[in-house]
Amino acid sequence: MMRVFSGIQPTGTLHVGNYSGALRQFVRLQHEAECVFCVVDLHALTLPHDPSRLAHDSRSVAALYLACGIDPERAVLFIQSHVPAHSELAWLLNCTAQTGELGRMTQYKDKGRGRQSVSVGLFDYPVLMAADILLYGTTHVPVGDDQRQHVELTRDLAERFNRRYGEVFVVPQAMIPPVGARIMALDNPAAKMSKSADSDAGRIALLDPPDRIRQKVMRAVTDSGTEVRYDPAEKPAVSSLLALFAALSDEPVEAIAARYRTAGYGAFKRALAEAAVERLAPIRERHDALMADPAGLDRILRRGAERAEALALPRLRAARDRLGLMPRPAATAERLAAAQSGEAAPSAAAQGAAARRT
Ligand code: AMP
Ligand code: TRP
Repeated sequence: MMRVFSGIQPTGTLHVGNYSGALRQFVRLQHEAECVFCVVDLHALTLPHDPSRLAHDSRSVAALYLACGIDPERAVLFIQSHVPAHSELAWLLNCTAQTGELGRMTQYKDKGRGRQSVSVGLFDYPVLMAADILLYGTTHVPVGDDQRQHVELTRDLAERFNRRYGEVFVVPQAMIPPVGARIMALDNPAAKMSKSADSDAGRIALLDPPDRIRQKVMRAVTDSGTEVRYDPAEKPAVSSLLALFAALSDEPVEAIAARYRTAGYGAFKRALAEAAVERLAPIRERHDALMADPAGLDRILRRGAERAEALALPRLRAARDRLGLMPRPAATAERLAAAQSGEAAPSAAAQGAAARRT
């Protein structure tokens, strides 16, 4: 059976690039495979972040998964930090990963560039991602093009661990769509559309209102000439817009290109803007309705975390055993479970009061 795992970070604004490269494949795959989808909130700590927004943004990304069509009865949907097995396996894999291979990751080099100091978390980010994937016996990882290198590293870590300690992990493969895996910024076709880029004009957020969407599409940079043609080498800007059109309308890119070949860029962009508005308006509505019922959303995520943990723990235990760690006493396991559900965790204020009394 195919087992699919993927994750999205709750940082910045989810955009149509995330939809095209990732979310859209997730919705299709849930009918073909066992799917586990995650809001990777621990990954969001690797760059400076705003603690007052993180919980809200994590719920919002979960709501977007659901609004785009993920069915929580079919797929497992949860928040990464709700399943501590992710951080625990990341540590175990840290001792198999090498600093040299992490230093070669292009995303690490890109994200660290120009910063005075870079956290160990940013450096270690791909090992946490490998833990996410390997915990679930994942066979396929649907992602956009920028994650290809991280999935390769995951494969290397799985193979190395299995060779050293015995077969524990399934070696997964990346699943990258042939069209739409790298949507470019609308205002700069040389750069990838990104959540974190300063310029909001470069991305269409999944939650943008219709007028913003139309405005951004009409201002999108195009290539020289007038022909609408899918040719990423010669016409990078128009080809990216065509790929986006295909993702938003579920039509093959060739059919769209044939229809607008001689129509001129203006008419092509107007049609693209309408396709985007039509696909995104209901997503925004469903997202807002889900966010208006946080208790309902949290129930879905709690159930998702329980299901994810049940899937993850046997493989974590197998990794611990193979590494020769002492079996964890049952009592510890119970205390851990209670602490995770919040029952046994005293608040910082209560701890402070207790400390002052002694
Ligand atoms: P991130 O925004 O880094 O959390 O990425 C979430 C998912 O969206 C990953 O699978 C990325 O590969 C994918 N993705 C991000 N940006 C783009 C883009 N511009 N085009 C296509 N896929 C993307
Ligand atoms: N690193 C991915 C990104 O930035 C997010 C991610 C974290 C992920 N863990 C994952 C993607 C596991 C796929 C599988 O887009």
